[in-house]
Parts: sequence; structure tokens; C-alpha cells
Amino acid sequence: MCGIIGVTGAADPLQVMLDALALLEYRGYDSAGVVLVGDNRLWRKRDAVRGHSLETLRHAAPGAPTHMSSGIGHTRWATHGAAVERNAHPHCDCTGRVAIVHNGIIENYQELWEKLAAEGHTRSSETDSEVVAHLLERELANGAGLAEALRRCVAELRGDFALAAVSTHEPKVIAAARRTSPLILGQVDGIGLVASDIAALLGTTRTLYQLEDDEIAEVRPDSISVVGLDGRDRELKPLKVGWDLVAARRDGYDDFMSKEIHEQPRALADTLMGRIHADGTTELEDLRLTEVELDGIERVVLIGCGSAFYACLSGRIALEHWARMPAEVEIASEFRYRDAVLGEQTLVVAVSQSGETVDTFHALREAQRRGAKTIALTNVVDSLLAREADGVLYTRAGPEIGVASTKCHATQIALLQLFALHLARQRGTIEPEEGRDLASRLLALPGLVDRAIARLDDYFSVADRLAEVQDVYFLGRHVGYGVALEGALKLKELAYVRAEAYPAGEMKHGPIALIEEGAVVVAIATRGRLLEKVMANIAEVKARGATVVVVCDEYDEATKAVADHVLEIPAVPELLSPAVAIVPLQALAYGVARARGNDVDRPRNLAKVVTVE
Ligand code: AGP
Repeated sequence: MCGIIGVTGAADPLQVMLDALALLEYRGYDSAGVVLVGDNRLWRKRDAVRGHSLETLRHAAPGAPTHMSSGIGHTRWATHGAAVERNAHPHCDCTGRVAIVHNGIIENYQELWEKLAAEGHTRSSETDSEVVAHLLERELANGAGLAEALRRCVAELRGDFALAAVSTHEPKVIAAARRTSPLILGQVDGIGLVASDIAALLGTTRTLYQLEDDEIAEVRPDSISVVGLDGRDRELKPLKVGWDLVAARRDGYDDFMSKEIHEQPRALADTLMGRIHADGTTELEDLRLTEVELDGIERVVLIGCGSAFYACLSGRIALEHWARMPAEVEIASEFRYRDAVLGEQTLVVAVSQSGETVDTFHALREAQRRGAKTIALTNVVDSLLAREADGVLYTRAGPEIGVASTKCHATQIALLQLFALHLARQRGTIEPEEGRDLASRLLALPGLVDRAIARLDDYFSVADRLAEVQDVYFLGRHVGYGVALEGALKLKELAYVRAEAYPAGEMKHGPIALIEEGAVVVAIATRGRLLEKVMANIAEVKARGATVVVVCDEYDEATKAVADHVLEIPAVPELLSPAVAIVPLQALAYGVARARGNDVDRPRNLAKVVTVE
């Protein structure tokens, strides 16, 4: 996720952009950059010091040219290409007269590059975004105006994008376009504006307009015109704003956690996009391990902490089932001291959304010391773990601000399942037809999570009824056990409730002694070959007076009938269910925490990144 700003007609476009970028930094802070246009030239300044790039741009401001007509700016959350200056936006064309900023993922950028290279264009970054600057260069050379050139480019792009472009040909014009990624237009007193979200413009104007998918805008100081992909005029759509600046950063949500719960479908779609295809083929661009190296792997060890570790539990099941790969999981802080027997046939996958967790980092280092190959599965490009590991698998969830992991946990699960499919195809342990079926079911995950999110109010009403709980036991089997662990963690870290998770089959070996009248048990009872066993465990705790909450498939009337409270989810293939089944438990913890007046974005005693041992 990245932040875009564009301004034309302002007396000091650079200051307008820097102020706006400060409000957009929550969307990404790996790098930042600005371009100014005027006096028949572009002036560009970029920096890639995570979290500090804007300071560099501010310090450079006194040296910037004045009386420039327009400008565009960008703050980056890296997806394609390391978080270094050459990959920072804005990106320019070969002539240096065109500049663009982009938020999203251009899925067909490689094939577009091949054509442009054949036409003599040379790239200066590893990003997908830069391809747009060269497409514009080509169309401008064919005599198109900037907005028309952008319209022609958009027709060639596949994927998601919000784009803003400037050129010395028309220094007062900003051309903008979007598909799926958000883009807002603004106008006030002879100033035209473009931005990724409302937060960046509210300080300048409340006269805002929504740009729709596949619409292209030409923004001038005193006018905005919009056309569709067909070139026909489109109406400007006014945007009503009821938010203040603070709420706007959360896109109107009460807090980042609820925003990030809602972002899960998008985060999953972005994480899978371009990596898995309907024919079952997969491509993992950053893996960096060759097929020969992967062929030599005889065992996989998945390590992580907290929610990242719980994602590993689903990953192990996927690796064993689809790739027939011996797999084990270990909490990173334990693995480090385990005196593990590893070798070059072992692949250790370190899962960490921040890529900075020191327990996981040292565990990865220990694995390397013992001769294992390593992969970092992380949400932060160029993070400590990403730089240290032999290979990388990036989730593309965008910044996760809330301390309690939601969209990153979901994308970790999905990416591990995708990796298992990738290995299965490589090892020939899955038939082509089964691979196609699995690919289509993985690609359907964002939609299923979206359907679960549509039930949030039902989940919150269960949370209201359980707001006073003191002790909660989460039970699950097989893939449900990892979900139970994550659900218990959410309730602990957000609502400060004592919550423990057990393999459901383990209760009779001791923990059931804890069950007495009024104990609350949450059972992960989604459809699968072990549902009957879970139902038996539910009967055991109900017989001892427990209040039972079930996470179950919608339409599963038999399971609902034995429950005191029901958290329904859409039917999902058993092995793919964790990313969907966790949604009601995120909501349960969120609801109980809010009922207790807790700060769900900053729970007590916790930090978003644990850089201490
Ligand atoms: C999960 O909600 C917590 N924030 C915590 O358990 C977290 O998952 C853990 O600290 C690992 O963080 P990482 O993914 O950044 O390594």
C-alpha cells in the first residue's frame, strides 16, 4: 500500500506535498519522493531511509526550485523491488520529462517491459511501476496530450493501480487514473489536487471527488475533467466527507484494527496476485532459491512467534498434505536453543510480519549456522530477516498498524499454502487437475473472507453477550488447532482475558478438569473429516456445564443446535479454512475488548515489533 499526492496551481506545491505525505505515511514508509514541474524541467528528490525519508525531503526543500507549476509525491510500501532510492517513486521516462507515482501492483509489467525494451527504452529501477512512465513517453511522442496518453496506457495495464503523472509538455496538468486502488480528486481556489485518500486533502479542501475504476482525470488549477477508458466524458462524482483528519487516516474506521480486519480480502488478493494462476501454475518472484536447491530439500522447519507461529501450524499441514514434505513447526525463541539437527537438505522458513522480531532473527541465524537453507516470509521488503535469509516470500498486506495481527496473519497462512502448492508442483506430488482445483480454491479465499467480514455484526453481538467472560477455553483439531491458538491469543492480547487453547483431543487427558458450570468453551467446528470428533468434545464439556461457542459452517444446523452461541462462516475447503475461521475470533476479541474500554490498537504491555529477547 503506498501514498500518492499531486498538486497543481499552488504557490508552494512542494510544501503542500510534504504536508500531505506526512498524513499518508501510515500507508507506507519504506521511501518517499517528489517531483516538481515547471520552467520546462522536472526537479526530483527521493530518499529510502525507512520511516525517515520525509525528513530528508524537508531538508532538501530550501534547495528546490520555486515558482514551479505542479508536482507529484509518493510514500512507498515496497512490493516489487527493494526499498532503495532507485526504486523510490516518482519514476521517470528515458527523456526525464515525464514522471509518475503508483500505488498497487501491475501484473503484466514484465511483458510490457519486453515490448518497451525492444523499442529502445531503458529502465532504471526494479519496480513494476516504472513501466507506466515509459508507456507515457511513447504515447506523448505519438502526439497525445498527457491525459490521453494515460488513457491509452491504462488500456494496456492488468492489475491494480492508482496513478498520477506529470510532464514538462503540460506543466500545469496532472493526469490521474485508478483501478481498484483508491484515488481522490480535490479543488480549491485555483488549486487542483490528487491523493490516495481523504486524509491527505482534508487540510487543504473539502471539495473532493471520487474517481471510479478505469476513469482518467485531467486535473488543472481551475478545472477537473474525467473520461472513461472509452474516451467519453464522465461526470465528476462529489465526495461527501463527515470525517476529521484523525478519523480520515483510519479511512473512517474507529481504529486501525477494524480497518485492517476489513482489509483482509484485499491483502489476500494482493498477496496471491500474479503468483498463482487458474491453471495451477505458480511463480514466486523473490524466492531466490533455484529449483535444484528446492529439489534438494528433504525437510521444512517453520518458525515464528505469536500469530506468526500459529500461521506456521497451517503451513505445516499444507506442506505435508500437498507437497508430501516432512515438516515441523517450532516457536522461534525455543528453536534457537534446541540444538537442532539441520543440514543443507533442511529448509527453515522464518515467518514474521515485521521481519524484525529478534527471537525469529536469531533463530534464522542459528539455522544458517547449522547449514540449513532459509526463507523469510515477511510483510516488510528489505527487513532484517528479508536481508538475512537465502530467499524471501513477501506477503503484500500493506502496513499493519494495529498491534494485534489480523491481515498479516491471514496472508501468512495463505502464502504458506501457496508455497506448499509451489513445492507440490515442483515435486510432482500433486496431479495437474488437483493443482488447478487447489489454485482456484486459493484464489477464492479473499471472497470467502469478505463473506465472513459481512457477518461482523453477528460476531459482535456474540461478543456483547460474552463481554464479562473471565476464563475461556479454545478447542480445535488439525487445522482448527492453529485457529484456536490464534483466537485465544487475540482474546488475551486485546481483552486481557485468560484464554487457553488446547487440541480438542487433549481435553480428556487433564484440562477437562477445569471445566465447571459457566466455563466458556469456543470450539472450532468447521466442516471436515474430524467434525464428529469435535462434536464429541463439545458434548463432553457441555455435560460439565460449559457454555459453548462454535465457529461453524453456515447451514450446518446440527452443529449450531448444540451451541449456546454461533459464529458462522461460509463453507470453505477444510485445509483452507484457517484464514476464514479466524475472522469471527478476531471480531470476538475486538468486541470484548471494546466493551471493556480497551485500546485495541495499542493493548497494554505490548509492542507491534518485539525487538527484545
Ligand atoms: C499478534 O497479534 C501479536 N502482535 C504477536 O504475537 C506477533 O504476532 C508476534 O510478536 C510476531 O511478530 P512478527 O510477525 O512481526 O514477527
